[in-house]
Amino acid sequence: MRLDKFLCDALGTTRKEATQILKSGDVTVDGQSQKSGAFKVSETSVVEWQEREVTLSGPRYIMLFKPEGFVCSHEDGFNQTAFVLLDEANMRGLHFAGRLDVDTTGLVLITDDGQWSHRITSPKHKCDKTYRVWLADPIQPDYAEKLAQGIELRNERDMTLPAQMEVVDEAENELLLTIHEGKYHQVKRMFAALGNKVIGLHRERVGDIVLDDTLEPGEYRFLTEDEVASIWK
Ligand code: URA
Repeated sequence: MRLDKFLCDALGTTRKEATQILKSGDVTVDGQSQKSGAFKVSETSVVEWQEREVTLSGPRYIMLFKPEGFVCSHEDGFNQTAFVLLDEANMRGLHFAGRLDVDTTGLVLITDDGQWSHRITSPKHKCDKTYRVWLADPIQPDYAEKLAQGIELRNERDMTLPAQMEVVDEAENELLLTIHEGKYHQVKRMFAALGNKVIGLHRERVGDIVLDDTLEPGEYRFLTEDEVASIWK
């Protein structure tokens, strides 16, 4: 395959942009600088742009530990998009499979596979999400039952689906909550409806995918095959 065609496919650029990238002198093939688009690359060639390997990848599946202060959308004028935390040469098609609020931390899934992300976000599939929640006021004894019965949220016609709550630390007003849908600000609104206020929110799990405890805030890794497949179960 020609090097310019390879760059177009791998980076999602036009042929003209690939030519400009080559002219800049930042592209190497097997360690040698290459400026010619006609240069032939083979399946075993290692192509690098700005010292990062560029590959013709298949679908990509990423888990990111989102820190506070980043949004799961495009820049909003105040906050940076969490995409800036990805050090990937090819960002083409990557999108968030479900969002977290700017002040929520934890597991965010990112992919360029639309069917896979739809499976996570579509209300029809009721994908579980587990959150660690810190409340402003004490956890009341009737919360678990009320959350399991479903809560009436403001401006929503339907009650929330049954949610499971487990107290983690009563003194710290800390609990785990598993919900099976993803309405806008859902967890915060559920506790607001119970007369309390969420002061800390961290997502630990989506389906069977658990946030890797070796990741620091702002770090990411690619999912294993089993993690990717678990979404289809
Ligand atoms: N529920 C919320 O209220 N916020 C989030 O970020 C995720 C779930």
